Amino acid sequence: MIKKSTTILVSAGLAVIAATATTPVYLDDSKPLEERIEDALSRMTLNEKIKFIHAQSKFSSPGVPRLGIPELWCTDGPFGIRPEVLWDHWDQAAWTNDSCTAFPSLTALAATWNTDMAQLYGKSIGEEARFRNKSVLLGPGINIYRSPLNGRNFEYLGEDPYLTSRMTVPYVKGVQSNGVAVCVKHFALNNNEINRHRSNPIVDDRTLYEIYLPGFKAAATEGEAWSFMGGYNLFKGVHVCYNPYLNNEVLKGEWNWDGAVISDWGAVHETSTAVSGGLDMEFGTWTNGLTQGRLNAYDDYFFGKKYQQGIEDGTYSMADLDDKVRRVLRLTFRTVMDRNRPFGSIRSDEHKSACRQIGEEGVVLLKNDTGLLPLDLGKIRKIAVIGENAIKMMIVGGGSSSLKANYEITPLEGLRNRIEDEAEIVYARGYVGDTNGEYNGVNTNQDLTDPRSREELLEEAVRVAGEADVVLYFGGLNKSNFQDNENTDRTEFGLPYRQDELIEALAAANPNIAVINISGTGVAMPWADKVPTIIQAWYLGNETGNTLAGILTGDVNPSGKLPYTYYASLDQCGAHRMGWYPRYPDLEQYKGKIMDIPYNEGIYVGYRFIDRKGLKPNFPFGHGLSYTKFKYGKPVIDRKSGTADDTFTITVPVTNVGDRKGKETVQLYISDTESSVDRPLKELKGFSKVELAPGETKKVSITIGRDALSYFDADRHQWVCEPGEFEALVGASSADIRGKVKFKIKK
Ligand code: BGC
Repeated sequence: MIKKSTTILVSAGLAVIAATATTPVYLDDSKPLEERIEDALSRMTLNEKIKFIHAQSKFSSPGVPRLGIPELWCTDGPFGIRPEVLWDHWDQAAWTNDSCTAFPSLTALAATWNTDMAQLYGKSIGEEARFRNKSVLLGPGINIYRSPLNGRNFEYLGEDPYLTSRMTVPYVKGVQSNGVAVCVKHFALNNNEINRHRSNPIVDDRTLYEIYLPGFKAAATEGEAWSFMGGYNLFKGVHVCYNPYLNNEVLKGEWNWDGAVISDWGAVHETSTAVSGGLDMEFGTWTNGLTQGRLNAYDDYFFGKKYQQGIEDGTYSMADLDDKVRRVLRLTFRTVMDRNRPFGSIRSDEHKSACRQIGEEGVVLLKNDTGLLPLDLGKIRKIAVIGENAIKMMIVGGGSSSLKANYEITPLEGLRNRIEDEAEIVYARGYVGDTNGEYNGVNTNQDLTDPRSREELLEEAVRVAGEADVVLYFGGLNKSNFQDNENTDRTEFGLPYRQDELIEALAAANPNIAVINISGTGVAMPWADKVPTIIQAWYLGNETGNTLAGILTGDVNPSGKLPYTYYASLDQCGAHRMGWYPRYPDLEQYKGKIMDIPYNEGIYVGYRFIDRKGLKPNFPFGHGLSYTKFKYGKPVIDRKSGTADDTFTITVPVTNVGDRKGKETVQLYISDTESSVDRPLKELKGFSKVELAPGETKKVSITIGRDALSYFDADRHQWVCEPGEFEALVGASSADIRGKVKFKIKK
């Protein structure tokens, strides 16, 4: 009971309490968290508990107004803070102060291979969320890149569970240092968008534990993420957002996690399984509008009055409900009720520079055979800039990650800003792809229509290319349907809008061509051998153009490495060759039915499959060049003790043998050369990014433990480190191993 002598000021959803001797325990932040939770719980009525665990609007839940426990506001995620939508609808609320910093897409972050960048990203986006009074950021997205066709790859961190884990943890900590919770999504196995509500991946436990869960485990245990989002798909025939195996046994059981599982928007379909399957909060049911009527729509949620009635008539237990309420209270106390959390900031110069820095470290130089880049501005008179992606604004689009940014510099603008009078820039469109500049009511206000025929555009582009000293082609994908976009997958691996033909024609007109591919996933590059220079650029947020201009001119030396394998063709990808990945023409037969997706490739995802089959992709996992060169010395291993806590430190000297400062990511792969079970040829288990001045040498040390040597034994349901011989492989990519060192594990 709150005594009269306690002063409570409730303003803008924030309870400001002047503690007195009579302050109730739950409001007294000098008391331990769990004590406060029990106290709050004991004061809540059944109806308050029920209301507390489901939405009251598109993105908020009501808290407990009577107790001064404020509303909890969520926001997308994961690249910036989504603009405000109406209370009950997806339509824009038309605020004029809800633009944000748009950070690079998460594939770009993964490509930095720099955990400091992940921390900076998390801290910065968390500050923006906090400033906008959001307590739960719906991100990061960390599902594994199983196929290049997945429409949401750009929201994730690539194909490797180790890289994903290492980048996730600092992101989580950075966000949460603001008193803003992450909501790590989409737990778990949400690896395709086609038919996403009915996809039922068939995955064995070893694959689950070795490939698809490590990122989530790291987020839960090391990152101490405060909430998780349950995805849309099923696993073992039950929707994952209330899947008893994933939520109760693994996440809350084995990992002993104390946070709250929040449903994806519209992912809940029934009360009973949702109650028992470990879901704690329901959001977004009837996402297409309030089909059940305006007044009672939220009460009609599966966690609304149906749940309350079930408790009253004894169908459901109060203990289960209390567990959910405790978890949501924990989330609330850690965020909106933390009176000491910082105030945050938005669209600041620091965030602009974070956007730029992350982008600059993420851009990957795939190929630079003739040294075309960096542009030699002293010699170049005329640059042809060609392609729609040079002028297309891409912050808008792609689904729930679409943002309203305060500004966006396109590649062409960035180049013009940087190069000014140093060389002439001539632009030609080359093709018309997606002229739509609108998503969910946010408009770029760019008019990209062009009445010319394909032939006319091609003819102009080839002529402009032929007349220039250098051609910079900006193409790739965009964020419209069937490209890098939520709710659809790509229909083909190749580039859309007949760009392949255009690139070949341009390369024939001028061999000094650099292709800058802007996408969040791999694309086919049948022309890869016909152009000397290729860059993988991502969606780089506000600073896209300035970031790319910095790389192209050499103001910045590229240091990104691929977070996924760049397949030469789809059948180099295990999911397509061995397993099954849903494609549109096949879908008719699955209408209204659960769609099983056999993951027959098992643990052989990405480079694990490439290695096993001895394939040669266009560019391997971990690949990325620099404008300088690095020489690796001989790796040595230093081993500590022969106990179960064995650690192994692999040290390799790396020298910058070129003439400009640069950064190199040294990668450590482990190979179990004497194993009783089938294992990948090698697996990434460590990496370290170092900066080296010309001529400088640094010793790079990476320490691993026995966990890095283990595989998951599904029969025993445990990780096993077998005695025998192992090899530590040190390299500049998964296919460029520069040194090896053998070691043995004794019984
Ligand atoms: C997406 C989530 C997103 C949510 C809220 C869903 O459709 O799958 O990633 O956070 O909408 O916008």
